[in-house]
Amino acid sequence: MTRVFSGIQPSGELHLGNYLGAVRNWVAMQHETDAVFCVVDLHALTLPKPPGEVGRESLRLSQLLMATGLDPEVCILFVQSHVREHTECAWLMQCNVSFGELSRMVQFKDKSDQHEFVSGSLFTYPALQAADILLYDTNEVPVGEDQRQHIEITRDIAERFNGRFGETFVLPQAVIPPAGARVMDLQNPSNKMSKSLDSEKGTVNVLDDPKRIAKEIRSAVTDNDGAVRFDFAEKPGVSNLLSILAAATGGDPAALADDYDQYGQLKVDAADAVVALLEPIQARFAELEADPAETARLLKIGADKAREIASNTMTRAKENIGLLAD
Ligand code: TYM
Repeated sequence: MTRVFSGIQPSGELHLGNYLGAVRNWVAMQHETDAVFCVVDLHALTLPKPPGEVGRESLRLSQLLMATGLDPEVCILFVQSHVREHTECAWLMQCNVSFGELSRMVQFKDKSDQHEFVSGSLFTYPALQAADILLYDTNEVPVGEDQRQHIEITRDIAERFNGRFGETFVLPQAVIPPAGARVMDLQNPSNKMSKSLDSEKGTVNVLDDPKRIAKEIRSAVTDNDGAVRFDFAEKPGVSNLLSILAAATGGDPAALADDYDQYGQLKVDAADAVVALLEPIQARFAELEADPAETARLLKIGADKAREIASNTMTRAKENIGLLAD
């Protein structure tokens, strides 16, 4: 069966981009594949965090992922730091990626510009991500468009490692949804919707109050020419709304454009569709939030299953390198 792996950072709220670009796909894929999903808390540490925050956010995000429909009895759902093989394998990845390759990562350039303290781990971040993916013999990685480069470097590292030490890792490929792969900020539609950019009004969080969600979508920035057309280069705001509506309702953004002759109705429909999509998730989250001990129990089961797969891969990798057996 196809092995699927993906991860998400517990930093800030889960927003509409995370949900439409990735998580919704995970929920669909868990039933048809052998799926492993990870709350990547160690990746969140690449930017400075106050004590306790990452742990709290990992619990909350795990509950929210379950609320979206990820079923820990169907897929493996776990927290990255609970499976030590991730950091161990990341070292092997760092030894098989070049400084030049890491220097070309767009995410590093973006994030290092935004922060004063630039940690070494922010630079080697893709090596840990490659470890996450390769430890599980992953065939497919469902992600949003912004992660494409990280999946490519993962393939490059796997190929180099296999070339040096013999067949060890499976080469993964990115799976990117046709609509929602790049949800843009509602106020600055040339930037992607993001938890690290301080654009509160431009970001819709999955747990935001429905009234606020509707208001934000209805006040999204468009343009002055009035024509509804799907054209991200010329009309980023309108195209973002069409893309969100299409992702929320299962339609095609370019075809949907023909149904509208003014922005007002498009905004109302996009707002209604997003609220209808998120309301059941919010209700389920409220139930799960009340029982953190049950979440912890489910995450432990996930970590135990993940460790079993990851430790086999680590043994194989170390044997192939020819490290002295312990
Ligand atoms: P993260 O936590 O930033 O985002 C989680 C997922 O959400 C997608 N996404 C978006 N999709 C559409 N539009 C947007 N505006 C948007 N913003 C985020 C991301 O593409 C991602 O799929 N490095 C990863 C986490 C990671 C990972 C992994 C992913 C660590 N190890 C292994 C896959 C496999 C990240 O920071 O995602």
